[in-house]
Amino acid sequence: MCGIFGCILKEGDAAPIVHDALKRLEYRGYDSVGEATIHDNKLFIKKDQGKIEEVHALHNLDNLPGRIAIGHTRWATHGAPSMRNAHPHIDCNGQIAVVHNGIIENFSELKKDLEEHGHLFQSKTDSEVVPHLIEEKLKGGLTFLEALRETAKHLEGAFSLAVISVMEPNKIFCIRKESPLIVGIAKNATYCASDIPAIRPLTDKAVTIENGELVVLEDEGYKIWRIADWSRISRNPKIIPWSPEMAEKQGYPHFMLKEIHEQPPSLRNTLRLQEKYLDLMTAFLDRAKDVFLVACGTSYNACLAASYMFSKLALLATHPVIASEFIEQQGRAINIDSTILAVSQSGETADTLSAVEYARLRAATVLGLTNVIGSTLTRISRVYICQQSGPEIGVAATKTFTAQLSVLAQLAFRLAEKRGKVSHEEIEQLEEKLIQIPDIAEIVIQNQKKKIEQIAKKYYSKQCFFFLGRGISSATALEGRLKLLEIAYVPAIAFPAGESKHGPLSLVEKGFPVVFVCPKDENHKTSVGNIMELKARGASIIAIIEEGDEEIKNIADDYIEIVKGVPEVLSPIVYVIPLQFFAYYTVVHRGLDPDRPRNLAKSVTVK
Ligand code: AGP
Ligand code: GLU
Repeated sequence: MCGIFGCILKEGDAAPIVHDALKRLEYRGYDSVGEATIHDNKLFIKKDQGKIEEVHALHNLDNLPGRIAIGHTRWATHGAPSMRNAHPHIDCNGQIAVVHNGIIENFSELKKDLEEHGHLFQSKTDSEVVPHLIEEKLKGGLTFLEALRETAKHLEGAFSLAVISVMEPNKIFCIRKESPLIVGIAKNATYCASDIPAIRPLTDKAVTIENGELVVLEDEGYKIWRIADWSRISRNPKIIPWSPEMAEKQGYPHFMLKEIHEQPPSLRNTLRLQEKYLDLMTAFLDRAKDVFLVACGTSYNACLAASYMFSKLALLATHPVIASEFIEQQGRAINIDSTILAVSQSGETADTLSAVEYARLRAATVLGLTNVIGSTLTRISRVYICQQSGPEIGVAATKTFTAQLSVLAQLAFRLAEKRGKVSHEEIEQLEEKLIQIPDIAEIVIQNQKKKIEQIAKKYYSKQCFFFLGRGISSATALEGRLKLLEIAYVPAIAFPAGESKHGPLSLVEKGFPVVFVCPKDENHKTSVGNIMELKARGASIIAIIEEGDEEIKNIADDYIEIVKGVPEVLSPIVYVIPLQFFAYYTVVHRGLDPDRPRNLAKSVTVK
């Protein structure tokens, strides 16, 4: 998700400082960049599509007058990357400028209402409702601060905002709900930012702004209010213990570890998708004769899990296909009645795009699920959904995998409901559970991390692993295997556990490590049987089980317990987390770099 930054200097021009700070936030997104300053009671703005240095080369971002400035580097969620959609956004009179990180969920209603009141919108973003809403509130005679407070109360979703206005030319106003926001304090300046890296070279003193708070930055420092009851909060700055280099990874030694920990917020973001696109995609799936789920690597594993979700809930048979094989395997069977749901984090994977292009030529319907708005996949899909995970830097996909699963589950729920295949109550219960999944992921991360690290220490020098599961857990196992294989260079084999006796079992001898994903679902009994067979041949079992599963605890060599009550169709979202940690810590114990595995690239743009 994008980065915001604001700066009040006692003297001098703020624009070059904002420009520099935005560069340190570019890892949060780089679809467009923009800055706004105030000088002589006028607002000055520069913004454009592109990376910061590209925009700077064209517009000179340092050349804006004024000691007060805000800036933004964007990761588009609503509206494609373009100059118009670049932040800052302004009101009708060009007196208020706003930068926003997050998603305003109710922006359609607000926009409609504001347009009815005569407001003219320039962009397709959700963010632009904010300056117009403040403008509207001011018409009612409120002070600027009151107008902001009222505005905040009307906004739903996740947001951190920084606002400047010629009506209050010496201040920056910030609001936080869920999206991160910090204030930095230096001798001659006050800053606000999405993240520590932006301010770390400028100061080591920071105040964390909490959910539901409004902050006013001024020369003398900062004032915080709780928006709900308008009480004043006093909170002193704390010393940031990180060096500028550590700050980029928020104190984590690697991006992969940071991104594993980002799964609870990234999963929460998937619960804020625009309903109309989910509905539209559901309608296409409902009409489809043949549905092909096409992807590579981790995204393919998400498709495999989705095929279980669609058939179990919506009684829809789908074909998960590895993109590089799509044309050979299914090509001649594709026609106007076929629907291709292409899943690609980057939206740029060559194999996936060429499968999609092929399908388009045969008049098939193409639906896309991606993390990158403006990517090729979004341009060639009939309908696409952006999973809103924010940039993923580690080559190993982690938070984007669980986010894909959450989006695919939502599609399956909708389709099930539309087709009347599952009772309304059952779908409601599943939706309720999906809302709890981010918290459950948080618990798993916090409670199990240490234990997995120890297990990885015990097994890190093993030469080969099996990753097994049954039903939807076979997709989880496949993903756990890919993680270990790609970053730790450990040969690992994954297959649905039922296949063991058809060949792979011959590899098992004393001490052979088997990671078994075994939630308490309808396959549990058979899985226990498979574990017994493996044990009988000397395998060491590392089981991922539901809390309190005594039966498996008694037979496994090591186990990780997952909170009870995760429905089977949602289980991969949570059960994969220990496997991500397992791969990560194995790499660490082997002394390798998990973020940059040899021979691989984050986005594979060649076939
Ligand atoms: C996952 O950890 C990989 N690095 C890789 O398999 C990846 O999932 C694959 O290349 C597909 O990428 P995409 O989702 O961007 O299309
Ligand atoms: N929703 C806003 C936009 O699309 C902000 C995006 C973000 O925070 O990444 O412009």
